[in-house]
Formats: sequence, structure tokens, C-alpha cells
Amino acid sequence: GHVLVLAGGLSYEREVSLKSGRRVSEVLRAGGIDVETRDTDASLIPSVLADPPDAAFVTLHGGSGEDGAIRSVLELLNVPYVGAGPEACRIAFDKPSAKAIVKATGINTPDSVTLPKETFHDLGATAMLERIIDRLGLPLFVKPARGGSALGASLVRTAEELPAAMVGCFAYGDTALIERYVSGVEIAISVVDHGDGPKALPPVEIVPDAGVYDYAARYTAGHTEFFAPARLSPAATAACAEMAVTAHTALRLRDLSRTDLIVDADGHPHFLEVNVAPGMTETSLFPLSVEASGQDLGTLCRTLLESAAS
Ligand code: DAL
Ligand code: MG
Repeated sequence: GHVLVLAGGLSYEREVSLKSGRRVSEVLRAGGIDVETRDTDASLIPSVLADPPDAAFVTLHGGSGEDGAIRSVLELLNVPYVGAGPEACRIAFDKPSAKAIVKATGINTPDSVTLPKETFHDLGATAMLERIIDRLGLPLFVKPARGGSALGASLVRTAEELPAAMVGCFAYGDTALIERYVSGVEIAISVVDHGDGPKALPPVEIVPDAGVYDYAARYTAGHTEFFAPARLSPAATAACAEMAVTAHTALRLRDLSRTDLIVDADGHPHFLEVNVAPGMTETSLFPLSVEASGQDLGTLCRTLLESAAS
């Protein structure tokens, strides 16, 4: 048999996904696995029907890759896959829904407003912006409610910067999430479940050279410095691990996820979001945390595929 690595697709994160797919395919092949790597379009269906894989690894980011749609297709085709199911993905990928659910478990997440583009314009953009600043204060962080890789995301320090941030956000999605900005250390914490319950891997600390972890800082080698494990106190490290495992569990995720958060000056983590198909590129965080845990990425991906197929 063979395994299928799904990449590409038509989201704004297509290029990132192609890199993730290439990396996962390489590490699996290095372990002697027969891998079919494919771009993801409608030809997936006849090709799977003609030669069904034992299991699939989804390295699609953004859009149908993370919102559950592609996983519904895999279920329809009877292909087992690594990762969360369609409904869990749909909720987790929608940042406001994910925040609401983790907040119900007692997790801290920055106060926010969710605003569809049409509502924003119907209610009068200028009045809406004033209302948002009255309610949340400044600085703010604006991002598409469903997106990734910081596309359409920006930090807003003054009221004058907010209109442009909204325009930038709506270029990448039809709903904006506007959060109170929490300053502190940016941390990504991966969770893996080998069948014995979700466990957090060592936290990765992100220090972008230019101060902001934007698309270029994410995918240009050398633009960001990483510390794995993060330079956090043992108490803060434990709090991050607990937050990531709680989010993974509360959102009904499976096999793997990555939670992104900010640790404030007092060592308290603030949940930002969870990723159901974390990036697997040469500069991505999930592979760094796997390495920091002393595991091998290829072995891990293979184990997850085997347990999905069994
Ligand atoms: N959305 C990108 C792929 C990530 O979170 O790693
Ligand atoms: Mg993300």
C-alpha cells in the first residue's frame, strides 16, 4: 500500500502548503514509506477510487484544508487520515469560535470583536471603528477570522491605523477578528497524541528580527530566531503546556495540533489560536518542537499514519 500526502489547494497559503507537503513526503520516504504527494483538486476523487491509499496526511493550510471540507471528502472516500475530523476542524479553524470554546474552559484569551465585512459597512465604518476602540482600547490586533500565516493580519497602535488594517484584513477574508493586543513573548506549542492522550511538546519561542512575525518572517530562512525550548520559567512552560492540551481536548482535536499564544510579563499565557494542520516547512514551528522533544519528524508522521490506518 501507499500513503497520500495532500498539499497545495487553492487557499492563500497554497505555497506554504506545497512546502509542507514536500517536507512531510521527504521525511516519510526517508523512512522507506511509499508516498504519493498530490496537489488537491477534483482529480483527487477518481485517483483515490482507482488506487486507494492506506491513509492520508493533510498538509493543506487555510480554506478547505483546515475548515474540515477536505476531511469530509476523505471520509466519503473511506480514506483514514491523520488529524481532527470535519466538524472539529470547522470550529477550530474559525478563530472566534475556537476562542469562545477555550474561554469556556477558563483559558485566557484576549477580548475581541468579530465583524463581518457587510455588517461593518452597513453600520457605518467610521462609527464602528470608534465603537471598537471604545470597547477594546489600543493597541489592537486585526486578522481574518479564518486564515493563517499572518496574511491580512496587522498590529494597530493608533486609531489612524485601524481603517487600513480593516482593508488589509478584508482582502483575505470576509470576517474580521479584532483583538486587544497583548504584548509579551510569542510562543507556539505543539500537541501530539500517540494514542495515550494528548501531550505537549516543548514550547517554541518566536523572535522575529523585525519585531513582527509576518509572512516574510515566517517563510524566509534567517528572518526569525527560534528558541526551542522557549526561555520561559518552569511555571510558565507548564502553564503553556496545560493551555495547549486543554485547547486540543476542548476543541475535540485528534493526533496533532499547534496552539499559538502570548506569554505576558507576569508569565501568564493568553490563547490566540489553534492550528489543525500546522505548517511543516523548513522554517515552521511544529517540526522545531518535534526536534526539541528528541523525536524524529518522519517517525512521528509514520506513527500517526499507522494509527490512523489501523
Ligand atoms: N498556517 C500556517 C501553515 C501555520 O500555522 O503553520
Ligand atoms: Mg494559524
